Amino acid sequence: MAYTVPTLTDYSTAALERASAELFSALGEEASAVKNEADWKVFRDRWMARKNGVLTQINDLWLKTAPKEAKRETGARVNEIKGKVEARVMLAKDHYENVAALRNVAKTRGLYPVDIRPSDSVDISLPGIRRPIGAEHPVVKTTNEIVRVFQKLGYSVAEGPVVETDYYNFESLNFPPNHPARDTQDTLFIAGQQAKAQRERLLLRTHTSPVQIRTMEKMRPPLRIVIPGTVHRNDPPDASHSPMFHQIEGLAVDTNITFGDLKGTLDHAMKEFFGSSVKTSFRPSFFPFTEPSAEMYVSCFICGGSGRRGSDPCRPCKQTGWIEILGCGMVDPNVFEFVKDNGYDPRKVSGFAFGMGADRIALLKYGVDDIQLFFQGDVRFLRQWA
Ligand code: PHE
Repeated sequence: MAYTVPTLTDYSTAALERASAELFSALGEEASAVKNEADWKVFRDRWMARKNGVLTQINDLWLKTAPKEAKRETGARVNEIKGKVEARVMLAKDHYENVAALRNVAKTRGLYPVDIRPSDSVDISLPGIRRPIGAEHPVVKTTNEIVRVFQKLGYSVAEGPVVETDYYNFESLNFPPNHPARDTQDTLFIAGQQAKAQRERLLLRTHTSPVQIRTMEKMRPPLRIVIPGTVHRNDPPDASHSPMFHQIEGLAVDTNITFGDLKGTLDHAMKEFFGSSVKTSFRPSFFPFTEPSAEMYVSCFICGGSGRRGSDPCRPCKQTGWIEILGCGMVDPNVFEFVKDNGYDPRKVSGFAFGMGADRIALLKYGVDDIQLFFQGDVRFLRQWA
């Protein structure tokens, strides 16, 4: 049934809203029925003719009769409707003209008739939907920046599962069953695994190192990979600990890889990431899967290595001028034994590996004093990286 302008008795906001919604829906329907110039003229006159067009009618039936206190709001509504009707009438003309032009092009080029979908059911005068633009989380941002540094050196990115077996997380990394080195990793185990052989029992990986073995099983040497990922440890949350955190692992294997390659690569990577003035320092350490092993420090990029900020002590480096950044070392030959059949004969190849905490680096880089802030999802905090 064709739309007729109702008389208004109720001038409340809700009633005005309902009346204009009805009008817009009729406008939309009639606009999509316009297929040619003749249709369009009828459509235009029905809505816009001075004498008795819909716009004139709402002026008479809605605005003129509105009680004093509703005049203002009704006036604003009527103006809005006027704008939309005018826009819609113009659009309907554009649309049938465009369709005709496209049909013509198709015809003169001998193409099949094109099916042109009516687009005039879209009300272009409505405001669009505003979607807030997201931003990279500071830990993801830091991870990506570090990964990028290694990609520029020819490293590829590898990934692996967060729920891991005892075999990949420990055994193949030269942590024998019951070895005390396992205790340093405060592992979260998946419940109900006792019926399985120990090496098949599931746990949450405590480091990204299991992806070293997983990748070496799949790819023959030479190999250069970086492994970003989530890891878990049974640490109670505090300002510097979280049971879930992020690491970036690296592994390079080839013939004749030396400790010199490890130092040169990591020193270069730190200068790329923190700036060319940082220095690196390597101190002996222990990991079951590297021998020799080291912890690498960088000169404090906050105080420049002096240990002081003006007259205050530098807190991030605890006044030492050095910050511990990662663990590293030469891949232990015992690790290669587990993937020997895929070309990793420990007598023929050598390699180095390293692993760093992405969250810790992000904390230092952005001067954030509580790691929990990274994982609470408070938009007021995260917005600072937008
Ligand atoms: N996986 C070790 C850790 O989480 C870090 C590491 C990686 C050390 C690679 C040496 C080589 O503590």
